Amino acid sequence: MRRFGLIGETLKHSFSAKYFAEKFQREGLAKECCYELYEFADIECVRVFMQMPELAGFNVTIPYKQQIIPFLDGLSDEAKNIGAVNCVKCEADGRRVGYNTDVDGVRVSLDKLLGAERVEHALLLGSGGAAQAVKYVLSERGIDYSVVSRSRDNGDITYDDLDAEVMRRNRLIVNCSPVGMYPDVDKAPLIPYAMLSTSHYLFDLVYNPTQTRFMTLGAEYGASTLSGIDMLHAQAESAWEIWNR
Ligand SMILES: NC(=O)c1ccc[n+]([C@@H]2O[C@H](COP(=O)([O-])OP(=O)(O)OC[C@H]3O[C@@H](n4cnc5c(N)ncnc54)[C@H](OP(=O)(O)O)[C@@H]3O)[C@@H](O)[C@H]2O)c1
Repeated sequence: MRRFGLIGETLKHSFSAKYFAEKFQREGLAKECCYELYEFADIECVRVFMQMPELAGFNVTIPYKQQIIPFLDGLSDEAKNIGAVNCVKCEADGRRVGYNTDVDGVRVSLDKLLGAERVEHALLLGSGGAAQAVKYVLSERGIDYSVVSRSRDNGDITYDDLDAEVMRRNRLIVNCSPVGMYPDVDKAPLIPYAMLSTSHYLFDLVYNPTQTRFMTLGAEYGASTLSGIDMLHAQAESAWEIWNR
């Protein structure tokens, strides 16, 4: 049996266990692979967890994406640059190597949303962990960005600074905040939606619901929109590819 899993603090609403269980069924792997959830009250629990026989790899979620790093034997360049790990591979020689597959999810999503369209400036709404993977991919693509934060200390600008000129210049807007996530589905980031046009692209990292209020409001003003569900699937597939290398 090859064992996989997810470590985090609260995993009741995890997407990954269901995703991998269905994948293993679909691909005829259910007898040889399993994916389970491991809720840890403290990252120190990972020491014992990583000794589990047949553990081939695992995902890492909130609040351990940074805290896991000192327990690992190596990091991919991306995980090192971003400072966060969401996927660990247990190598045959016993080494545990950390990766960041959120960046793969962001790459796939931006390709799908933008196609051949070139944008030069983007706004990131929120300054937390998920924004770091988005920043990494935007930098990779030479897209300049500003972080919009509720606090002047955490970002480049605040929501009050979103005037007509800022909105015209930034054609790509990425919601990296949890605003609009289930159960608060009637909420949307506080941006001036009426200043959007058909030349805008809205990417919501929120994946539940798949059609968020942010996307609906953007579409009402002609913007192209994309849900976080593609990113979620792509980061899981990327982890699977790493575990099978
Ligand atoms: N699709 C995927 O595969 C994927 C992957 C990772 C994360 N996500 C989603 O991305 C979202 C953000 O994840 P995260 O881990 O970065 O979350 P987080 O650290 O809890 O929050 C991100 C940032 O959002 C802003 N924020 C938080 N609450 C807010 C509120 N009530 N109003 C306005 N802004 C608020 C904060 O920035 P400021 O204080 O600077 O405003 C915060 O640092 C979540 O919904 C998560 O589910 C999706």
